[in-house]
Formats: sequence, C-alpha cells, structure tokens
Amino acid sequence: MDYTEARLLLESKGQTHLLNYYDELTDEEKKELLAQIECIDFSVLAELEKKNNGENVRGDIKPLGALTVDEIEKNHDHYEKIGLDAIKAGKVGAILLAGGQGTRLGYDKPKGTFDIGETKTLYIFECLINNLMEVTDKAGAYIPLAIMTSDINHEDTKAFFVEHDYFGYKSDYVHFFIQDMAPATDYDGKIYMTDKGKIAMSPNGNGGWFTSFVNAGLLDVFSGYGVEWMNVFAVDNVLQRIGDPCFVGATIESGRVCGAKVVSKAFPEERVGLLCTEDGRPSIVEYYEMTDEMMYSKDENGKPLYNYGVILNYLFALSELKRIMKDPIPVHIVEKKIPYMDAEGNMISPGEPNGYKYELLVLDLIHLMTDCLSFEVVRDREFAPIKSLTGVDSVESARLLLKKNGKQI
Ligand code: UTP
Repeated sequence: MDYTEARLLLESKGQTHLLNYYDELTDEEKKELLAQIECIDFSVLAELEKKNNGENVRGDIKPLGALTVDEIEKNHDHYEKIGLDAIKAGKVGAILLAGGQGTRLGYDKPKGTFDIGETKTLYIFECLINNLMEVTDKAGAYIPLAIMTSDINHEDTKAFFVEHDYFGYKSDYVHFFIQDMAPATDYDGKIYMTDKGKIAMSPNGNGGWFTSFVNAGLLDVFSGYGVEWMNVFAVDNVLQRIGDPCFVGATIESGRVCGAKVVSKAFPEERVGLLCTEDGRPSIVEYYEMTDEMMYSKDENGKPLYNYGVILNYLFALSELKRIMKDPIPVHIVEKKIPYMDAEGNMISPGEPNGYKYELLVLDLIHLMTDCLSFEVVRDREFAPIKSLTGVDSVESARLLLKKNGKQI
C-alpha cells in the first residue's frame, strides 16, 4: 500500500489523523506505518456504531441444566474409559489461549511465566503442563498442544518453553501460533497512536483462535495427528484439567458437538458468564448482562434457575469448528486504559479508562454450536483463576486452592 492508497482508505474511514506525522518519519518508519494501516481490520470499528445505535440485541434467553457432579461421579469410570480411548487414538488436541496481556496482574511478561511458588519456583505454564501430563501419563499417549500467543508475547513465550525444556512435555507435540491484533480507539472511534509512526494495537480477544490456528497451518498438523476434539482453555487457571478424559468421554457419549465445563454459582451476583440457551441454542450470558430474574430466580428445588457459570474450558468437535469458521463472531467493545500519544506528541499513560479495545470472545463460539454438554465440576478442585495479585481470583487465592488440592508449591 502506498501513501495515496493509505490516505484514500483512511479518508473513507474518518481516520486520516494516523498520517499527521507521516512527513516527519524516516523512509523505514513510513513503510512500517503504511504496512500497519494496511493490516487494520476496520470492520471491528463499525461495531461501535451498532453499539451506539443500541443494536446487538439478545434473543430469548432460557436456563440450561447440567450433567451434575453427582451424575458424573456415578458414571465416572465409563466416561473416563471413552475419553482415554479417544486420547490414545490421537483424537484429542488442546489449545492453550495465552495471547492476553494480563493487565490486571500488572506483570509485563507473558502471564504463564509468572512464578506462583512459595517454597520453590512454580510457573503458571509449569502448573498447566503438570496437569496435562497427569492425563497423558495415564493414557500413555501425548495430546498435541497448540499455544496461542500474540505479537507482544510470542518470542518470550516460546523462549520460556525452550529454556525450561517444555517442563518435561515432548516438544514435538507443542506448537505455537500468533493471534490477530485489533486497533484501540478513543470513545469516538478514532484510532489511537502510540508514536508518530505506530498505531495502538492490542490482541483482538481469544475468540479468533480457530482462524489464527488455521492460518498458521495447524489445522493440517492436528488433522494429521487424527484430532477430532479440541479442548480449549485459559492460561490463568492453575487447577485447569486439560484433556480431562471424563469430560471428553461424557461429551462424546452425549452425542453433542461441544462441551463446556461449568461450576455452580457461588452467590447470585457472582461475576461469571452463565451457560444458558438463546433462541434454543447454547449461549453464554455475561455477568453484566444478567437481569435480576437471572440472578435470583429459583427452580422447584430451590436451586438457582440460572446456575451454571463457565470456567473457560471447552471441548469442540473439530468438524463443527470447520463448519462455523466463516460465520461472523460478535465484536465486544471493552472500555480500557489505553496508553497513547496526544496531539502534542506526548506519551500518556492514563490512570482511568480512556477508550475502547475490540475483542472477539471464545464464549461466542458456543452460540454457533448446534448443542453443548454443560458439564459440572467441583469449583475448588478445578477453578483457580489468576487475574490479579491479591483478592478474588488472584495469585493469593490460587495458592490457597493449590495447597487445598495437595499440591506442593
Ligand atoms: P482475560 O479475559 O483474563 O484477559 O483472558 P487477559 O488479557 O489475559 O487479562 P486482562 O484482562 O488484561 O487482565 C482470558 C484468557 O484468554 C486469553 C488469555 O491469555 C487468557 O488465557 N486471551 C485473552 C487471549 O489468548 N487473547 C486475547 O486477546 C485475550
């Protein structure tokens, strides 16, 4: 893309300010800026207009029950056998979503490289690989693992795994791929710059993982292993069960095309995404969308009617992911603190949110699935997310939970 093309494009999008400092740049910087402009996905910005117009209305939301912990326990061995057989046959792959910036943790390296140990070093990535190896040791077979990173943390993440010899996992089965980025804007949708030749870009959420995975050539690699089921999970839950044979077996046995691990809500207002149905299809309602009815209604047994919160551990049939690949995923517009360069060329690090980031979320893939097994797990055994240093969902709370589960930390 040359300068004239870039100007024309930006004029049509109301973003010509991105070229305000063009003349001050070196030839190399000019080239880089034009390349950045060419890569911007402007379609996400159109979502702001929809939001301002009050579009994006939800359908008819209804509660969805779950295969409960008790029911699972009764059939545990049966489900586990089906799952282990699938793993042995190479049918299960795993996707670690590690492209986030982890801003709440206030740690400037990849979140997975954070050491949560007390008496020894214990990195978040190490915890996850340990959990994965409990399953692969039992199955006597490897589960191929793809790790999604972003432009910001890719090199550090890869180098960390190499430095630590993949924490004992076989490196041939570990693949890395890079997710896409999206521009960050002010409240009027004007894209921020972080320097005279640099556009403010951030990872575009975890929902685009399958497209990035395919673009990286990994669909062929995973198909080559014989993978039919993809277990997608977050980097920050250190009690995460990966490739859990019981979950895999129950989902296969259910005949459904996807499964989601859920926990019972701890209290009515808890900030978790709830697995429900929307217009008859599975769908996740985020905590900020919850109505009073969804928070406080009870079923005939006195249990919350909308009871099951997702913990970002999903199992997708690969065939179904291929089927929905071209379907549009909603863009979430999230208010954030965005470092930027002001009109005088000063770098500003705002203390309060000053604009929007545009994110696709993996939870929206659930609504594109024809059905979904809601699979309840025991919260204290499987859910120790690390979002911040202290308080709810923190390093502090995760350490307590690891110890409660008998882990040496
Ligand atoms: P979070 O929603 O906690 O976001 O991600 P985050 O960026 O890690 O943290 P904050 O909000 O800045 O504090 C949930 C999971 O999705 C991954 C994260 O790495 C984490 O595993 N993720 C998030 C991505 O892979 N890409 C993204 O663009 C965002």
